[in-house]
Amino acid sequence: MAASGEPGRQWQEEVAAVVVVGSCMTDLVSLTSRLPKTGETIHGHKFFIGFGGKGANQCVQAARLGAKTSMVCKVGKDSFGKDYIENLKQNDISTEFTYQTQDAATGTASIIVNNEVKTLFNPAPAVADLDPRFYTLSDVFCCNETEAEILTGLAVGSPADAGQAAQVLVERGCHVVIVTLGAEGCVMLSQTEPVPKHIPTEKVKAVDTTGAGDSFVGALAFYLAYYPSLSLEEMLKRSNFIAAVSVRAAGTQSSYPYKKDLPLDLF
Ligand SMILES: Nc1ncnc2c1ncn2[C@@H]1O[C@H](COP(=O)(O)OP(=O)(O)OP(=O)(O)O)[C@@H](O)[C@H]1O
Ligand SMILES: *[C@@H]1O[C@H](CO)[C@@H](O)[C@H](O)[C@H]1NC(C)=O
Repeated sequence: MAASGEPGRQWQEEVAAVVVVGSCMTDLVSLTSRLPKTGETIHGHKFFIGFGGKGANQCVQAARLGAKTSMVCKVGKDSFGKDYIENLKQNDISTEFTYQTQDAATGTASIIVNNEVKTLFNPAPAVADLDPRFYTLSDVFCCNETEAEILTGLAVGSPADAGQAAQVLVERGCHVVIVTLGAEGCVMLSQTEPVPKHIPTEKVKAVDTTGAGDSFVGALAFYLAYYPSLSLEEMLKRSNFIAAVSVRAAGTQSSYPYKKDLPLDLF
């Protein structure tokens, strides 16, 4: 994900301030009372199709907060792909770089690093042997507890643990590390402020936490692009708030709030 909106920089109307390189996935969701055994057919009581994929989720959240966004990805040349492109348009996301391919849909994400923009890297799904250049080349490295564990080999179950894992990631070259901790909010650490800081969030009644991490990353990209003069801590407080709103409703993108539904002091 790349974001740029430094003060004084003039962007043309059409130019996106948040560009997401990542996946678009169609979720086929069946509600059943239990999982089928291998080869077994069971009755489901509900079925629905949803729009998912971590990259697209993050892009949708940033767009709903008012960011000018563009989604860089490939979908299949089929009805799901066609519907997905329509979903991006419905969310006011530019599809200029959203392509349709005859080949099977791929779920891989790649990052293009360009010196003119701020890059926010979300290592999901995490692999232990992540190319070390991802640590040094991203401006902000944002992961969840599980990803921090896989990358560092340390167990992460508390804000203190997250601070230690973040320290390891900073030693590997990350400029700024954020570890999200579900209902515990997040922990931040940077090369310039090398003491971990826990940013708690208010307790909410969680209905469905699916996609909370993507809501958080999308909101953070929005603040990096549109409010670059805010302190990182303030951006994280606001991103915690927005992600908490998303856990209070069911679904992934369907639970992401729009700017008009949020308190004015977030903008
Ligand atoms: N129960 C909750 N109450 C309040 N805020 C929450 C809750 N769960 C998640 N959040 C918010 O969402 C952010 C991301 O959550 P989390 O660390 O669970 O990400 P994630 O594991 O990537 O999410 P998921 O994989 O479920 O999409 C947290 O930093 C926090 O701001
Ligand atoms: C963290 O994100 C990964 C996707 O990379 C997901 O599989 C995992 O369940 C998440 N961890 C938590 C604690 O939510």
